[in-house]
Amino acid sequence: MTKLSIWLDEQFGWNSIRDTIFLRKIPKVNWFFTLGSATLFVALNQGITGILMSLYYVPTPDHAWDSVNYITNVVSYGWLIRGMHHWGASIMVVLVMLHMLRVFFMGAYKYPREITWVTGMVLGLVTLGFGFTGYLLTWDQKAYWATTVGTSMAGVVPGVGTFLLKVLRGGEEISAVTLARFFGVHVWVLPALLILLIGVHLYLIIRHGISAQPKRSE
Ligand code: HEM
Repeated sequence: MTKLSIWLDEQFGWNSIRDTIFLRKIPKVNWFFTLGSATLFVALNQGITGILMSLYYVPTPDHAWDSVNYITNVVSYGWLIRGMHHWGASIMVVLVMLHMLRVFFMGAYKYPREITWVTGMVLGLVTLGFGFTGYLLTWDQKAYWATTVGTSMAGVVPGVGTFLLKVLRGGEEISAVTLARFFGVHVWVLPALLILLIGVHLYLIIRHGISAQPKRSE
């Protein structure tokens, strides 16, 4: 270690943070244990490509579709960034489900990991929320009618349906308010929730360690 890095470690104490994160005891694992990290990687991809697209995307009915078209056909590598975000969204839903199944079938949700499971479940819902709100943003016929159907489904929930429908659409019909609302939730509310929940999820994973695979006799 150079003098500088020793001095910096004395200031920040980051060597012990690094050791806590990376020098952990890991039980005998297999490829199924990589699904959580794979989800994390795709979530990062979504964040980076999403931020890049937000430099061009305009969330108004007059400009949304044109701005998406501009990203795809005019902006350098816009097609690639948009493609990575588009496919990443589906891949993330698949990975989150597979990760949840591995945790479930290996009984990794049991004591003392109940809260890891609960934060995971909310992360799963947040992932679906990203898909639902992101779908409208292209503001084409497919987006419009898919959101019409999706929000109508919320509208038939007994008791609170009408209220839910109005909250989701920002009125009776899908309009500029719906687009603004879905955009706000997609780029502010859900990312904030995702970062917070991933923070707690990872803290708990480091705190408890990865659970060992259950034995046949257990
Ligand atoms: C954005 C979504 C998610 C991310 C980024 C994520 C990330 C991770 C990572 C990196 C691990 C450690 C490695 C592994 O076991 O695969 C993990 C473990 C865990 N995850 Fe997730 N996860 C997510 C969603 C979920 C969901 C949907 C559930 C269940 C409902 C869940 C429950 C758990 C549990 C209980 C563990 C501990 C497993 C053990 O100790 O063996 N996670 N997660």
